[in-house]
Amino acid sequence: MPSLLPVGDPAPADGLLPAPDAPESPADAPRDFGLYVHVPFCRVRCGYCDFNTYTATELRGVKQSDYASQAIDEMTFAAGVLAASGYPHRPLSTVFFGGGTPTLLPAAQLAAMLGAARDTWGLADNAEVTTEANPDSVDAAYLRTLADAGFTRVSFGMQSAVPSVLATLERTHDPARIPSVVGWAKDAGLDVSLDLIYGTPGETLDDWQRSIDAVLENEPDHVSAYALIVEDGTKLARQIRSGQVAAPSDDLQADMYERADAAFGASGYEWYEVSNWARGASHRSRHNLGYWVGHDWWGIGPGSHSYVGSTRWWNVKHPAAYAQRIAAGESPAVGRETIDASARDLERVLLLTRVRGALRVASLAPGARREVAGLIADGLIDGPAALRGTLDLTLRGRLLADAVVRRLT
Ligand SMILES: C[S@@+](CC[C@H](N)C(=O)[O-])C[C@H]1O[C@@H](n2cnc3c(N)ncnc32)[C@H](O)[C@@H]1O
Ligand code: SF4
Repeated sequence: MPSLLPVGDPAPADGLLPAPDAPESPADAPRDFGLYVHVPFCRVRCGYCDFNTYTATELRGVKQSDYASQAIDEMTFAAGVLAASGYPHRPLSTVFFGGGTPTLLPAAQLAAMLGAARDTWGLADNAEVTTEANPDSVDAAYLRTLADAGFTRVSFGMQSAVPSVLATLERTHDPARIPSVVGWAKDAGLDVSLDLIYGTPGETLDDWQRSIDAVLENEPDHVSAYALIVEDGTKLARQIRSGQVAAPSDDLQADMYERADAAFGASGYEWYEVSNWARGASHRSRHNLGYWVGHDWWGIGPGSHSYVGSTRWWNVKHPAAYAQRIAAGESPAVGRETIDASARDLERVLLLTRVRGALRVASLAPGARREVAGLIADGLIDGPAALRGTLDLTLRGRLLADAVVRRLT
């Protein structure tokens, strides 16, 4: 089963939110607003994954083909809630379709959902519109349809270039397909991101180097590289517990991170968040940056989380329960919490520490500011950057980011 939802306060059926805080100064622009659309379907479940996603046999009668219209109904509901709660109309800065596997749906359905988002809120100038895609779920015509509909970016779950590593991860795609899908996406005019996972049981440094090389040969605009996390309740966790496969090694994962950072840096990809590199600032994922820097977003779909003003809430997880609530015209939210100023400040430090150039030393609480000299002395944050006023992790600091955050919070 996918991971559990947090425990919070009950969410009202009408979804109404507390009125927005008054701006601190009349010149303050409202926060940027992003839309996340979750598509909770996968053809098969990968052994390491605990995302809220369902294969055909787990759907309890829900039809994937009905999903786009339910998601569009939630958009209409969302616009009504925001207006009734006193939020000003804001065009969408970013839209992100994630999963699950959004590209299991026909391209026309993704286009219809994007069209509904545009009709509901409008898209800001230069809005970024991304979909995640599994490499075996798209072809040239599919990607062209997305680009024609207004998508600007596609993020492929490549994970590795090595067949044995992909087999351990239970990925279904042939790595030889990556150059084709990247080429089709670029031909359609889409920005391309590739996701990698490192530290898979049995993966060697040489295997990892092959994946890094393959990414660079494909010249994407953006790369994400994630250390494999063994999530409770997954098949991978059971395999490790029974001794069938070895647990990922922290030391090897650190060596892998260093290799990736050196190779990406040498090829013009700058890190801008601990797990993300972009070929120039214009190719950073603005949607993900929105989560980290504290923009508002509405998450559509089963299990999606939203954060607007000072309220965070989460939707019911199963697509059948979600469909029922949407059909009844009720909020699909099952829990919510209010984030007060001190919790927001803590989260700000937690998230911004991992983003390059985002955390001003002057914005830290006095206790955290007193840690800065020690963090520089320990080689965890960059001295010259701190003198210029921002807290930037060094390479060592990125490897020990959680420890840095603990010292600052
Ligand atoms: C929701 S998934 C991806 C979308 C798409 N279904 C796919 O798998 O290609 C987003 C990304 O999260 C990463 N991911 C998922 N589970 C992970 C785990 N247990 N450890 C590390 N990264 C993980 C993968 O790199 C994946 O591409
Ligand atoms: S395809 Fe993506 S979302 Fe689906 S199970 Fe695999 S990693 Fe998870």
